[in-house]
Amino acid sequence: MSFLSLLCYSCCFFFSSTALSIQTILLTPISKDPSTLQYTTTVYHKTPLKPTKLLLDLGASFCWIDCEKNYKSLTYHPIPCKTSLCASLNSSACSNCYNAPGPDCANNTCALFPENPVTRKAALANALRDSLALSTTDGRNPGRLAIIPDFVFSCARTTLLKGLANGVTGLAALGRSSFSLSAQISTAMSSPFLFTLCLSGSPSAPGVAFFGTRGPYFFLPDAELSKSLVYTPLLVNPVGNTVITYSGQPSDEYFIGVTAVNVNGKAVRLNETLLAIDQNGNGGTKISTVVPYTTMESSIYKAFTEAFSREAAAVNLTVTKPVKPFNVCFQSEDVSSTRVGPAVPVVDLVMESEDVFWRIFGANSMVRIVGEDEDVWCLGFVDGGANARTGIVIGGYQMEDNLVEFDLGLKRFGFSSSVLIQQTSCANFNFTTNNKIAF
Ligand SMILES: *[C@@H]1O[C@H](CO)[C@@H](O)[C@H](O)[C@H]1NC(C)=O
Ligand SMILES: *[C@@H]1O[C@H](CO)[C@@H](O)[C@H](O)[C@H]1NC(C)=O
Ligand SMILES: *[C@@H]1O[C@H](CO)[C@@H](O)[C@H](O)[C@H]1NC(C)=O
Ligand SMILES: *[C@@H]1O[C@H](CO)[C@@H](O)[C@H](O)[C@H]1NC(C)=O
Ligand SMILES: *[C@@H]1O[C@H](CO)[C@@H](O)[C@H](O)[C@H]1NC(C)=O
Repeated sequence: MSFLSLLCYSCCFFFSSTALSIQTILLTPISKDPSTLQYTTTVYHKTPLKPTKLLLDLGASFCWIDCEKNYKSLTYHPIPCKTSLCASLNSSACSNCYNAPGPDCANNTCALFPENPVTRKAALANALRDSLALSTTDGRNPGRLAIIPDFVFSCARTTLLKGLANGVTGLAALGRSSFSLSAQISTAMSSPFLFTLCLSGSPSAPGVAFFGTRGPYFFLPDAELSKSLVYTPLLVNPVGNTVITYSGQPSDEYFIGVTAVNVNGKAVRLNETLLAIDQNGNGGTKISTVVPYTTMESSIYKAFTEAFSREAAAVNLTVTKPVKPFNVCFQSEDVSSTRVGPAVPVVDLVMESEDVFWRIFGANSMVRIVGEDEDVWCLGFVDGGANARTGIVIGGYQMEDNLVEFDLGLKRFGFSSSVLIQQTSCANFNFTTNNKIAF
């Protein structure tokens, strides 16, 4: 079957069941692994469908899944070389195999280089098609599963999983490419090409990702979060940062145009050149779910932490001994609390104009560290090094309990700031299944 027949099959599937249709919006839960600080999502894969835990990676081009261990499915198909599907995957190799035929062993098969973004390792493996399913949703509850019968991904060997959270068997790619999870959902469901994340930091209550909707996004007890989004253009970095480089191909990662960083409304003095993407792909501000805490190139980090310490001192907060990997910490007993976390200076990432800024309150700027003889709040930003390729990399912690919308269709990024203000949190999505929701 070709990719075109995939489209046709899902269309027929769609039209034959419109009686039940509300909207073809899908969702997955997103959990945080407490030991690696990685965000993972669970999808259903193969035939019969099995829950499959994958690392969430905003920057990756295509999904990959371990095919070496326990791959049993009635519906997998290799992708032959010299097919249009193989060509559109930009496959750089065609492989043969002399072992027993299986998902990871076929002749004349389209091969890719899946990458592990944590260890930055890559290894050649077969591309494959198989069934993938996610829950439908009305924005309020999950519904029945919707199946994408010919989901395209890459196999990987078990060793590529090294460095990833326990139980993870692959990677869910959310990058700009036409074969990311979000792109294939949009094609199969005829929905707009966008997805929305609400990351939860709670080890027990997951956050959520929505696919193919610009809202409404309902959270308990009574919040609808689409109205709180502010938008800024999504920018394209002309040079990719993958382990295996594909010359002439832009990056599939998401960049936004941060022009200034303010602390308590005062601009931090920094080298603005580092905030622009140059023709070699250096500089700029990227968004990443693989980086746990926002990193800043050394000179930006130094200026930012100095400005933050100065503003904190003005309200009688004095810095105490730092706790790695952080540099600016305060005794917890000195810090009072608010609905949006510890009361500390507010940080704004300012975009194209003064009134477009992403406000970061204490709940997202400060990390509590409690040890045997310490209890401190530390500024949760990390020095990215003097040779950092990217000026600022906005990490997962700064996105928790914020709604963020990656809209490829409208080429814009929407952000809500802390939803704690609205008396809810990303852990407050109602995951009780409502079987009336289907497509
Ligand atoms: C393949 O390369 C083309 C040309 O650079 C690019 O537009 C397309 O997005 C790439 N496809 C994938 C799946 O990366
Ligand atoms: C690939 O082709 C070779 C040579 O014809 C054959 O020996 C081998 O068994 C084939 N591999 C598979 C997986 O079918
Ligand atoms: C700003 O950063 C750019 C890029 O690293 C560098 O070439 C330039 O010298 C820096 N300017 C200042 C004033 O430090
Ligand atoms: C900081 O402490 C000084 C001296 O104890 C006091 O006069 C001042 O009001 C305090 N400022 C704030 C903002 O709490
Ligand atoms: C969660 O959703 C279910 C199914 O729609 C509903 O019955 C239940 O009342 C909801 N929970 C809360 C706390 O509103």
